[in-house]
Amino acid sequence: MPADARSPKKLRNNRAALTHKVGYALRHPGRVAPYLRRAGRDAWLRLKHPDHVGYYRAVMASDTRRNPEAAVGSQTHDRWLALGQMQFDYLVEHGLRPGHRMLDIGCGNLRGGWRFIDHLDSGHYYGIDISPDILIAAKQTLAERRLQEKLPHLTITGDLTLDFLPSDHFDVVHAHSVFSHSPLDVIEECLAHVGRVLTDTGFFDFTFDRTEGTEHQVLREDFYYRTETLLALARKHGLHARFMEDWEERPHGQSKIRVSRSPLAVTSAEAQHEQADLRR
Ligand SMILES: C[S@@+](CC[C@H](N)C(=O)[O-])C[C@H]1O[C@@H](n2cnc3c(N)ncnc32)[C@H](O)[C@@H]1O
Repeated sequence: MPADARSPKKLRNNRAALTHKVGYALRHPGRVAPYLRRAGRDAWLRLKHPDHVGYYRAVMASDTRRNPEAAVGSQTHDRWLALGQMQFDYLVEHGLRPGHRMLDIGCGNLRGGWRFIDHLDSGHYYGIDISPDILIAAKQTLAERRLQEKLPHLTITGDLTLDFLPSDHFDVVHAHSVFSHSPLDVIEECLAHVGRVLTDTGFFDFTFDRTEGTEHQVLREDFYYRTETLLALARKHGLHARFMEDWEERPHGQSKIRVSRSPLAVTSAEAQHEQADLRR
């Protein structure tokens, strides 16, 4: 998604509305045939897999067969590298240190993950995903980057209860472009359980497709939420939650929320951002 997806006008778009679809088709006639092919494939996959995770796993299998980098949302290798760098730089600016333990939910083919693995001490990176196909691609990335010695954990999961992971363990939990593909019950399952695996000073950062209009979804692949909905959901499960203003500066179409068990001090990166805002 392009960064201008966060322009005030686009934030009010309802991509599920017929008027939006007709207008979009008239503006981009070349995209109509690919959209119809995707809609047909997705309708078939939804019929075969009525549950969301089964359906999205099938979408990932089909997309990964064609191109693993495009399957995680990057149309070119340069963009794949840039998106991983953006995730990495942000967390390092927010204090990610080699001794920390990190859980990367929906790690994909390690677009950001290989950089985290490289940065962290051996065995400190834990990547989970619902798609066996993308995890095979993740292992290829790991081998290409010669990071075998770092012994990351890469594990398939069927849900987000995180029940196989230890309590009070992770300093950083991360989900980049995962909740943008998740219905609310999947997000709630994660928020209901993530507090247990976080350390008391740890945090969970997740991106989401933000709307300031009606919440909606497209093909059960892309989900658009209001910030208040996700903040309220996190707070319902006893978590502290805040919208990350400094992420909005990055050239990325999604927004970011940070949740934690304890109230967190504002980081120096955020403080600098607030200072710059005051000067504007
Ligand atoms: C757009 S990709 C992003 C991958 C990676 N986070 C990155 O930024 O490159 C979304 C990933 O989340 C995974 N995913 C989707 N729903 C999930 C869920 N409920 N639990 C775990 N992984 C999920 C998909 O299989 C896919 O690999």
